[in-house]
Amino acid sequence: MTNLQSPWRSDFPILQTQMNGKPLAFLDSGASAQKPQAVIDAMTQVMEQNYSNIHRGLYAVSQKLTEDFENVRSKVAGLIGAPSDKNIVFTRNSTEGINLVAQSWARNNLQKGDEIIITEMEHHANIVPWQILAEQIGVVIKVIPFTHEVTLDLEAFKDLLSDKTKLVGVVEISNALGTINPVEDIIKTCRAFNPEIKVLIDGSQGVVHRKVNVTKMDADFYIFTGHKLYGPSGIGVLYGKYDLLESMPPYQGGGDMIERVSFNGTTYREAPYKFEAGTPAIVEVIGLGAAIDYVQNIGMDKIAAHEAALLNYAMQELQQIEGFTLYGVLDTSKKAGIISFTMDEAHSSDIGMVLNQCGVAVRSGHHCCMPLMSALGIDGTTRASLGLYNNKDDIDAFVAGLKKVQDLFG
Ligand SMILES: Cc1ncc(COP(=O)(O)O)c(C=O)c1O
Repeated sequence: MTNLQSPWRSDFPILQTQMNGKPLAFLDSGASAQKPQAVIDAMTQVMEQNYSNIHRGLYAVSQKLTEDFENVRSKVAGLIGAPSDKNIVFTRNSTEGINLVAQSWARNNLQKGDEIIITEMEHHANIVPWQILAEQIGVVIKVIPFTHEVTLDLEAFKDLLSDKTKLVGVVEISNALGTINPVEDIIKTCRAFNPEIKVLIDGSQGVVHRKVNVTKMDADFYIFTGHKLYGPSGIGVLYGKYDLLESMPPYQGGGDMIERVSFNGTTYREAPYKFEAGTPAIVEVIGLGAAIDYVQNIGMDKIAAHEAALLNYAMQELQQIEGFTLYGVLDTSKKAGIISFTMDEAHSSDIGMVLNQCGVAVRSGHHCCMPLMSALGIDGTTRASLGLYNNKDDIDAFVAGLKKVQDLFG
């Protein structure tokens, strides 16, 4: 493992291709990860040989697919340490999971003047749904700032807690910086202050880079999105404690989420089904199941160790680059494989374009974290984010590309 070569790279067909005539060095997994053959095959197999709608047909194909679909709920529960598959709601993505909590739980339990605490590091997906709610019912949003080391200011957090605090929403690993936030400590602080406060963890980057156990963590809600976990886009997960999910009204109405419909009134199925109106993303759920099997067969610990070794190598190599400023913590044990930086000579979009010519895919801009960028006093960064398939060669191509940026702009 320490040779920095990924033993899993050949599982990803796209990584055998080229970009601009160069081997593809894909360093944008934080935005969306590439897909292994096992996921592609599982989705193709369903469409070729086992497709129908689910939860309805009495015929064999539909029954088999219904069983496979529901098995994925158990796989998700296993992946994140949820007590039961009944805690698992399928959503379109992380964004929909947070909107569901905002519009179902929060809209029905919070009142004008109640407070929601989020952090300065949140992705827009964990900011805007609360702002919409604030416009609808007058809740107040408070923000945990970060320290000069760009870690969450936990003392400031304690000062923000009040008897009006109803929900705390925190990103487990910052997509823009890679910082691993102490979500377990934050949850403990909330419990000690007032056990009624609900905590939502945005695990979009967390579940990808480390082993997660929502039961031990004691999160009330935990959300993630399939496409960053080597699965397809269009499928995400909301985990909720069951009594909470059961107490919440449906988010959307329609087929499949009902028990009985009449013009005098409608009754709903139990959680999680009451939150899944209409035909779900059937093929995508099967793809997510294959992705979970794939990462679990490797083991999250092995993935984390490989990414940590590559991150350490990259950080060492990047010292050669003059005018390079890293954003976020320096200590690689406190960050996931995400390198967010600026260069004195060149704008992030120029860096992205030069790297593109070198076959290196990175992300340039605000990474859907505009408030974070404003607090850092910049308009954006360039971000290289690692996946389980990255190799020493990818880092070498990245560093060589940055030297080219220096030559062109320095
Ligand atoms: C930390 C974090 N939260 C939320 C999201 C939103 O994910 P999606 O667009 O799949 O809903 C992302 C995606 O970049 C993310 O990195």
